[in-house]
Amino acid sequence: MKHFLQITDFTVEELQTTLKRTKAYKDNRLDASTCLNKESWGLLFYKSSTRTRVSFEVGIHELGGNPIVLNSQNTQIGRGESIKDTAKVLSRYLHGLVIRAYDHSVVTDFAKYSSMPIVNGLTDFNHPCQILTDLFSILEHLSPEAIDLEALKGKKVVFYGDTASNMANSWILAATYLDFDLVLAGPKGYEPKDTILNALGAKGLNSRHTFESDAQKASEDADVLYTDVWVSMGDEAEANQRKATLKDFQVNQTLLSKAKSNALFLHCLPAHINEEVTEAVIEGPNSIVYDQAENRLHTQKAILAQLKS
Ligand code: CP
Ligand code: NVA
Repeated sequence: MKHFLQITDFTVEELQTTLKRTKAYKDNRLDASTCLNKESWGLLFYKSSTRTRVSFEVGIHELGGNPIVLNSQNTQIGRGESIKDTAKVLSRYLHGLVIRAYDHSVVTDFAKYSSMPIVNGLTDFNHPCQILTDLFSILEHLSPEAIDLEALKGKKVVFYGDTASNMANSWILAATYLDFDLVLAGPKGYEPKDTILNALGAKGLNSRHTFESDAQKASEDADVLYTDVWVSMGDEAEANQRKATLKDFQVNQTLLSKAKSNALFLHCLPAHINEEVTEAVIEGPNSIVYDQAENRLHTQKAILAQLKS
């Protein structure tokens, strides 16, 4: 039995298969496999979600399964029932569980005590379903037929803003595991934390990112520009300080003009317009954010199919 808690939980070959399957599901959305035939999958949320919740709910339904949306407050988790007991009991009813939590240890503990696959729907450490979607969305442009990870080689991806966040960590894992160039453009003090460097070390990998505190310099000849909110869920108490510190890392026309003319702009969404990105960039010709959001559906179906294979 496999779990999907970070992208390194799949081999590179499995990731490539999942990306190709994503394209098949996208090309043929409603006539796809019914690999979850009659299975019930839980979706357990400790924090808010629009895309992850709806795309998994729709995707599980389209694969022939039954999605059951739960949250920590309306289950006994909110009254203190342990993860161990919750995981053991839910494993008797469900065939798999997607979890969005604050602390990454929640998903690793569920994985430890469950006898069903656990999928990480975002933690403070990383967001593997999102990063796999992001890679697919880029490869749709670089390698539209083959969706071949090799097409990332030699490309320059720049992540702007909160370079110590769950999405930055997801990019660090992806670049290191899949061997492509990543520039983290953030202020001093927002360098990647030990948690991500130790996670790579545990896999025998050294991070291959570079860190650049000059956003203009970071943007030169970029192939992909990526940003995320400056105040992630759970960071609200630091909102004012973060907005002041990160203001020079807003993705705007000035930064975009330094990148290649056909550079792609991505954002996992939700976006805060005129904070981390301007309206002109997110609505402009380089932006693929709405395709990217749609691709959450197709990619997640492919992740579930891979876990069943
Ligand atoms: N990108 C993403 O995970 O969106 P939600 O928070 O809406 O699920
Ligand atoms: N970094 C953001 C991602 C939201 C999809 C957060 O954790 O809130």
